[in-house]
Amino acid sequence: MRATIDLEDLGLDRGGHLLVERALAALPPGGELDIRGRDLTLPVHLRAWARARGHTLRDTGVLVRGSAATDRWVAAERAGGFAPDGVVERPGPSWGVAARGALIEAGGPAVRFDIEEKDLVWADTAPRLYAQAAASQWDPQTAVDWNAAFDLPAEVEAAVVQVMTYLVENEQVALIVPARFLGRIHPHFREVLQVLAVQAADEARHMDVFARRAALKGGPLGVSGAGGRASLATLLEEPDFALASFLLSVLGEGTFLNLLGYLEVHSPDPVSRRITALARQDEGRHVAFGMAHLEHQASLDPALQHRLRGAVERRHDVLMETVGLNQEVFDALVLLAAGSWEPAAIARGYAAVEELQRGMDDGRQRRLVRLGFPPDEAAALSALHTRNFM
Ligand SMILES: [Fe+2]
Ligand SMILES: [Fe+2]
Repeated sequence: MRATIDLEDLGLDRGGHLLVERALAALPPGGELDIRGRDLTLPVHLRAWARARGHTLRDTGVLVRGSAATDRWVAAERAGGFAPDGVVERPGPSWGVAARGALIEAGGPAVRFDIEEKDLVWADTAPRLYAQAAASQWDPQTAVDWNAAFDLPAEVEAAVVQVMTYLVENEQVALIVPARFLGRIHPHFREVLQVLAVQAADEARHMDVFARRAALKGGPLGVSGAGGRASLATLLEEPDFALASFLLSVLGEGTFLNLLGYLEVHSPDPVSRRITALARQDEGRHVAFGMAHLEHQASLDPALQHRLRGAVERRHDVLMETVGLNQEVFDALVLLAAGSWEPAAIARGYAAVEELQRGMDDGRQRRLVRLGFPPDEAAALSALHTRNFM
């Protein structure tokens, strides 16, 4: 087969190779391309270029197509499909950092990830949750009216600051846990990485707004109790993705949904009400993803429930000697809902916190039942959950 192209004044060193390659692609190996052109350096450049590409240049100026370009793709394979239904069970190290759905040239580096199995991370709702999360990003600067006028009694302000201090600590751990897993998951499961990346970005905003509210009236920040930090440290120590997201997202962030809902209703100032409402919307998605991939995994792995139970029990044993929720945080929750030191107000605040704790327990039990635990076991496991809430 033979074809002809005319490069006119275009040299090979100024993009002419694109036209030559395009013309060659239409020919089979062994096919001949008659190349014409007026650029004086063309014959010299063409010879060097042809040699480097595995083609032959005859003295007549006719290029004979070699097979190197096609050979390069002989052992290539397609890395699954672009869409979520193209996700494979085990993408493996040779697909490493390749785009899902791309044609992968053989001979690239092997890139290992700790988590290379679809069923360990996947949820069919991941693409939808990511899209929702991306569409729901808010700007801490403009989504909150930081100049809203309010003036609280000093002790009530201090209670708000104490709760905000506690929230910042919890948000930090809620950022670090998914961020650590992010780099350990095979990028073939693209939508899972996207969900976790936006989750980490959500937590970054939560840290921001809670810290800003804590310092809004000049600080200083509240106390950081050893018990709360001990509880958070156990979340950082869990190396297994299923168990970590069970403890963090299902039990911890699930419990936080109630806490943030409480603060949204009972906080004594508009800034605190607004930022806890914004954070609660984000947390709803974090819990939804944790639930979705654990439900996916539980449906395939009958031993999962046993491992989840073990994780709650182990954590409870480790934290047995700690106080869990600091008294300062508990008292602050009562006082900020009470709004004053009137005995009747304190009674209302105290009752509200008791109701909050019942609501947290109900929510945990409901989620545990959804993961397949019988109701009595769900109640027992919920009772073992950390008193730090997260
Ligand atoms: Fe958060
Ligand atoms: Fe979260």
